[in-house]
Amino acid sequence: MSDRVYVFDTTLRDGEQSPGATMSLEEKISMAHQLEALGVDIIEAGFPIASQGDFEAVRAISRAVSDRVQVAGLCRAVPKDIDRAWEAVKDAGNPRIHTFLATSDIHMKYKLQRTPEQVLEMAEAAVSRAATYTSNVEFSAEDASRSDWDFLAKVFERVIDCGATTVNVPDTVGYVQPFEYHEMIKYLMDRIPNSHKAVFSVHCHNDLGLAVANTLAAIRAGARQVECTVSGIGERAGNAAVEEVVMALNTRKDIYDVTTNVDTTQIFPSCRRLSQIIGQPIPPYKAIVGPNAFAHESGVHQDGVLKNPMTYEIMTPESIGRTGTEMVIGKHSGSHAVKAKVRELGYELDEEQLGLVFEAVKGLADKKEKIYDEDVHAMIMEKVFRKRDLFRIRDMSVSSSSGSVPPQAAVVMEFLQDGEPVEEKTNVVFGKGCVDAVFQCICGVVGAAPKLERYSVTAVTAGTDALGQVSIRIEENGLRAVGRSADSDVIRASAMALVNALNRLMKIKEEQ
Ligand code: KIV
Ligand code: ZN
Repeated sequence: MSDRVYVFDTTLRDGEQSPGATMSLEEKISMAHQLEALGVDIIEAGFPIASQGDFEAVRAISRAVSDRVQVAGLCRAVPKDIDRAWEAVKDAGNPRIHTFLATSDIHMKYKLQRTPEQVLEMAEAAVSRAATYTSNVEFSAEDASRSDWDFLAKVFERVIDCGATTVNVPDTVGYVQPFEYHEMIKYLMDRIPNSHKAVFSVHCHNDLGLAVANTLAAIRAGARQVECTVSGIGERAGNAAVEEVVMALNTRKDIYDVTTNVDTTQIFPSCRRLSQIIGQPIPPYKAIVGPNAFAHESGVHQDGVLKNPMTYEIMTPESIGRTGTEMVIGKHSGSHAVKAKVRELGYELDEEQLGLVFEAVKGLADKKEKIYDEDVHAMIMEKVFRKRDLFRIRDMSVSSSSGSVPPQAAVVMEFLQDGEPVEEKTNVVFGKGCVDAVFQCICGVVGAAPKLERYSVTAVTAGTDALGQVSIRIEENGLRAVGRSADSDVIRASAMALVNALNRLMKIKEEQ
């Protein structure tokens, strides 16, 4: 058996389905480039039939990445989905169609309302249709871990005959246990006569906190594709985290003895990029990449680490690309330094975009003593990935008070066409607090009345002058949008995050 494990990254599909992780087209392309740098073998770029936005994102990623990485489009096992998925991925240097169909009794009976025989036929028809487009076809048996093993074996045997080159055994609901999954994968690979013609893949959800453990157990049993996401984001409790799976394989090579194509020094940059894009900080105790993952508090540990880091560290921070928070730019840094930093952080920007980032970083350097990598990331998000907005804040002022005068906000908003201001509107509002006042003020100008479902502020770096990163989620008539922004003034960051969310909401409405 080959010792090569293929890493299939689904951050942009399953990951993006997690609440608050919605990404814009530009953000998805930026993340796809980072995944390429990480060295994943397959990027699942989205679910093209789900919406026009998803279709466009999958197509744009297919065109943007090199043929060193495969691009997969997800589709249900029905003709119109398969055709749409192909349409979206066909321009990729190395496209893949990933079709799925549930095989568990509960899904077949209640969700699909089909008999096992009908499901078998649908699976065969779907893979046969996909195989007319490409020889790179993956079939996933949704809820495989709760399916009858013999029925599953029959489905896989048939779809391999029809042209599936990868068969995926998802633990869709995060139910399976490591020893059970190990047995199941072995059973299927031993039992299916043509199993040698396909790569066996696993896709584990984390409902019981076992996604990574199950993935590793499956590799031990012979699975050679792992479906993961950066930082483990995904439906409900998330998916297996790519950084945990890869570092377990590397750190315990003595047990697993397999290889991947992942450049581990790109692990931390990938998690940081995702965190910047989705506006959610990496949790302190997150394995491998959390802020505390290499912090030693107790005196005994510190003493040991000083004498030999391997006393308490089973891997080095450098091996995952964690080189410390570098001070990068000062007030007097020139545009070359900023451009070099942008490139070092892995962004490919054109001259105009570099100019915008340079101006923003210089502006920040006037307000903030030290500028860190995280600040530059935040400015890139702010200036490059927000350029197709319908409106933006030109000016604002907010006053707080502890007396009987309520907090007041005033904003001047610019309405844009192709990025150029065409109209200006002003509003002044009293609120219950500064954030309430500025939110009401902006919503009044743009004529929206969304409910604020979630609001969080985190500091991007240490220090009282740190950028505050605000992440919000709004809802209006059943439509939801997230917004993010960062600024050294958290009220301003809150206002810009709302504007970002409102812009996204307008685009979602347009799409609908
Ligand atoms: O969890 C799951 O079963 C999935 C499939 C579409 C692979 O995400
Ligand atoms: Zn999934």
